[in-house]
Amino acid sequence: MFWTAILQVAVVALAAPTQHEKADCSPLEVVIARGTTEPQGYGTVGGGTKFVNAVQKAIPDATAYDVKYPAAPGAESQAAGVQDTLKYFETKPKACPKQLYVLSGFSQGGLVMHRAADKLDKTLLKTRVVAAVTFGDHGQQATKEKPIYNSPFGPVPLWPAEIDGRIKFNCAVGDPACSPGGTNFSQHLVYGAGDFVEQSTKFVQEQYEKLKTSG
Ligand SMILES: *[C@@H]1O[C@H](CO)[C@@H](O)[C@H](O)[C@H]1NC(C)=O
Repeated sequence: MFWTAILQVAVVALAAPTQHEKADCSPLEVVIARGTTEPQGYGTVGGGTKFVNAVQKAIPDATAYDVKYPAAPGAESQAAGVQDTLKYFETKPKACPKQLYVLSGFSQGGLVMHRAADKLDKTLLKTRVVAAVTFGDHGQQATKEKPIYNSPFGPVPLWPAEIDGRIKFNCAVGDPACSPGGTNFSQHLVYGAGDFVEQSTKFVQEQYEKLKTSG
C-alpha cells in the first residue's frame, strides 16, 4: 500500500516526455521496465528516460524498448511484464543477430527484469546481454548465500550466474527496496538525480566495449 501511494505522488509531479522507439537492428538496445504507476514509456521517477537518453548519447545509434505491461500493483502486473520481456527476446535477437542488449528496470520494473532474466536463454544472456542495470531493485537482496529473497512482492531469485559481474545495482542509502533494513521511502525516488544515471551509463559503455570486442 505504502509503495503505491508514494509512487503515485511522484508520478503526478513528473510528466512523462514524449518517447520514440525505433524497431530497427541497432547495435545496442536497452530493454527497460518502468516502476509501479509510471505511465508507459521508459519511466521518469526511476531515472529511466534519463538513462536511455544518456546511453544513446554515449553509444551512437543505441535504441530502447519499453516493456509493455501495466506497472500496476500486484503480481499479475509483474507476470505480464515478464511475459512481454520473454516474448521480446524470443524474436528480437533472431531478427537482429548482431544486436546486443541492456536489461534495465526501476522498482517493480527491476523485479520484472530480474524475473525475466532468470528465464532467459543462458547463451543469450552470456553472449548478447551487455549488462543489467537496476534502480531500486526489489530483488537485489537475494545473495549467493541466500539465493531466494522473500520480498514484499513475492520470492525473488538471485540474478542468473551468466550475468555475474555485469550487473549494476543502483541502491540509494536506506532505500527499503534494495538495502537490508532500509526504512527511508524517499530514497526509493532519487534515482533520476545524483550520479546514478551517469555511473550506470559509464558501466554500460565499458561492458559494451568488452562484449563487442570479445564476441
Ligand atoms: C531520507 O531521504 C531523504 C532524501 O531522499 C533525505 O533528505 C532525508 O534526510 C532522509 N531521512 C533520513 C531519516 O535519513
